[in-house]
Amino acid sequence: SARAGAAIDRLTRVAPDFPVPGVLFRDLTPVLADADSLRLIGVALAVGFGPFDVVAGLESRGFLLGTAVAMAAGTGVLAIRKPGKLPGDILSEEFDLEYGTATLELNPSDVADGARVLVVDDVLATGGTAAAACRLLRRAGAAPIGVSVAIELGALGGRAQLGDVPIRALRLY
Ligand code: PRP
Ligand code: HPA
Repeated sequence: SARAGAAIDRLTRVAPDFPVPGVLFRDLTPVLADADSLRLIGVALAVGFGPFDVVAGLESRGFLLGTAVAMAAGTGVLAIRKPGKLPGDILSEEFDLEYGTATLELNPSDVADGARVLVVDDVLATGGTAAAACRLLRRAGAAPIGVSVAIELGALGGRAQLGDVPIRALRLY
């Protein structure tokens, strides 16, 4: 996992003033496009937690890493989606962004009662996205046992949103 962190340092594209002035945006696209890095990060995000039954990937970039983690751990992957994408009887959780609100959705039939779920995303920023995913999973009768991310942006205080759920980040900026 030192190698996974080194791959993130080496290949992440750091973009000043994106998407708005004053934000230093970290784009993991070149990391995920590199075969060795993708495999190393998938493994590194899967370890250090208690046992889990399934990975939840958060739309959109969490889908890519979530699948890599699930493949490394030998589990399946559950897509937690942006609004309007899932049919049927779904649960929705709204959360605050830096400006405005967003929503994530899950069909509770897609997760077994009592399932232990590892939540995976690329970046933990304010924590609103990951916290909403944890609330959805609990409402569905599942247990979020951890949040695993490639990058944590420490200044945004995302950890405080997540209560007692253990968090693993391969890089803290
Ligand atoms: C980004 C990132 C995380 C989230 C982190 O996703 O991939 O999911 O923001 O921010 P937070 O901790 O402040 O909630 P975005 O909403 O840009 O969606 P995308 O993956 O579809 O680009
Ligand atoms: N990179 C990727 N996603 C993000 C970032 C970032 O710097 N900040 C908030 N979401």
